[in-house]
Amino acid sequence: MVKILRGTMNKHRKGILLAGGSGSRLYPLTVPTSKQLMPVYDKPLVYYPLSVLMLTGLQEILLISTPEDLPSYRKLLGDGSTWGLSISYAEQPSPDGLAQALLIAEDFLAGHPSCLILGDNIFYGHDFTACLSKANENEKGATIFGYHVSNPSAYGVVEFSSDGKVIGLVEKPTQPVSEYAVPGLYFYDERAPALAGTLSPSSRGELEITDLNRCYLSEGSLQVELIGRGTAWLDTGTHDSLLDAGNFIQLVEKRQGLKIACLEEIALAKGWIDKEQLTKHVSSLGQSSYRHYLESLLQSPAHFLNQLPT
Ligand code: TTP
Repeated sequence: MVKILRGTMNKHRKGILLAGGSGSRLYPLTVPTSKQLMPVYDKPLVYYPLSVLMLTGLQEILLISTPEDLPSYRKLLGDGSTWGLSISYAEQPSPDGLAQALLIAEDFLAGHPSCLILGDNIFYGHDFTACLSKANENEKGATIFGYHVSNPSAYGVVEFSSDGKVIGLVEKPTQPVSEYAVPGLYFYDERAPALAGTLSPSSRGELEITDLNRCYLSEGSLQVELIGRGTAWLDTGTHDSLLDAGNFIQLVEKRQGLKIACLEEIALAKGWIDKEQLTKHVSSLGQSSYRHYLESLLQSPAHFLNQLPT
């Protein structure tokens, strides 16, 4: 039985991990399996966004995926107790847009605020955990992020006034409005499912997350936090970007001797599991380098945990 640690918020925030979609830009890789199960060096892609929810301090998580792929996620993550989490699952029958996640999650959220993360987004960098804590503490309205990219037209983009105020959000602009793309990480108050229910599908037939964010912007309760250049935000939607992400993780992990998005390490640091639980789990990991890392963690936890943002 997982013990959920409560914070100081009125109602604690719950996590939503959206891991559906068609992954068509990765065909034929994604014909037999889900994009978010693709390997990113030493672990499945979905571990990275899950680690972000954990670093935010969220233990109750709903994973949404396609009816075909949900069994694979259940096999990989189970009920989440390995990491001191409570993971439940819901189907998105067809990829009808990111904002649909809030409708699917309505019963799970049961009036709690949420953090939605897309299953193919990777974040890594200095002060990122502080950024998460700040967003988590904001109980009113919504917090989204802005990240400077070289190709903003591929994303939802933040539009600023000349004095730096956020005045608009534009989905995949053909004319540049700024270089600040909105990553797939959104913090919402408890009204998000109801607001998502007011949206109509866009011309491409999807419930757009940008439209949901615009609801908060128009009532003056949208916070946009800029993520600095010291943090990497990696996209993994194409063959090149997936390989780049794997190479990036390999490079940093080899150099530091520390793993990125190691769920067991985060759970131990948070006090959500203890050494006994981790020891039992380690024996199920074959003879992988991931297992050897956890074994060294068990031998000298202080060394590793001092390196971990909590
Ligand atoms: P996208 O990259 O926009 O779409 P996709 O994953 O289906 O890939 P492709 O464009 O190659 O066909 O999706 C971003 C993330 O959101 C990704 O993790 C999949 C997920 N997603 C859903 O789970 N449901 C949806 O309805 C949509 C649109 C995306």
